Amino acid sequence: MLATSVLCLRACLALLAMPIYLLAFLGIWEPFCKKVFFPFFLEKLSAIHERKAKKHKQELFRNLPDFASPSGELKLLEIGTGCGVNFQFYPPGCRVTCTDINPNFQQGLSKSMSKNQHLRYERFLEAAGEDLHQVPSGSVDAVVCTLVLCSVRDVSAVLREVLRVLRPGGAFYFLEHVAADHSSWKYFWQQIYHPTWKLLFAGCCLTRELWRDLEDAAFSELGVRHVRVALPWTPIEPHIMGFAVK
Ligand SMILES: C[S@@+](CC[C@H](N)C(=O)[O-])C[C@H]1O[C@@H](n2cnc3c(N)ncnc32)[C@H](O)[C@@H]1O
Repeated sequence: MLATSVLCLRACLALLAMPIYLLAFLGIWEPFCKKVFFPFFLEKLSAIHERKAKKHKQELFRNLPDFASPSGELKLLEIGTGCGVNFQFYPPGCRVTCTDINPNFQQGLSKSMSKNQHLRYERFLEAAGEDLHQVPSGSVDAVVCTLVLCSVRDVSAVLREVLRVLRPGGAFYFLEHVAADHSSWKYFWQQIYHPTWKLLFAGCCLTRELWRDLEDAAFSELGVRHVRVALPWTPIEPHIMGFAVK
């Protein structure tokens, strides 16, 4: 009964979004989304998410300096940097390498870089988190992913790359939206929105249980907290946050 309701409501939503499905079928939506729609949308979403998540992020990144190398330098690699909303939370002098599969966020990224001149920007790599071969093994002290693991093609492959590029004792910081409790209305709606949402928002999946992937990865320590970021009117709730040590 529940499964049938989900399917019917999914079909209704797909009907409403029919023009987008048609553009996708014609091969027009994906390049348009990547170049125009998603960069525009992300800048708007980032501003809202930023306000709501600020306290959580301040708490999350508080101990970043503890992972600096013995020379005092902190080399950080961010996967899926987008518009660079996390730069403000990194400590002064931190050497940042930005990576993203989509190189079309220059406008937002440049704004964030000029606002955050306390950092040293090393380079921008157009790369998928699943394949960071340009980054040598064991070469970074910290890796950051926020709102990225929902969209990657292969979460386990990304986590394997994170473990490869981190030096022993380095840390992986994450803040991600995840599937709601299966008995909740929120999860019911997440299942309905899922296919259309994924198409509209560059592959973003609403129902991933990312804490399980983190538990299965070979980190030596893992701290995961389930938190609310106060976005009750959206399906991108709840969130998990924490850090894992190689
Ligand atoms: C919702 S945005 C989040 C951006 C930023 N991290 C933030 O917190 O605002 C998702 C980002 O992940 C990037 N992304 C998606 N799949 C990726 C992949 N496989 N590897 C690297 N980045 C990816 C997207 O291009 C986009 O910049």
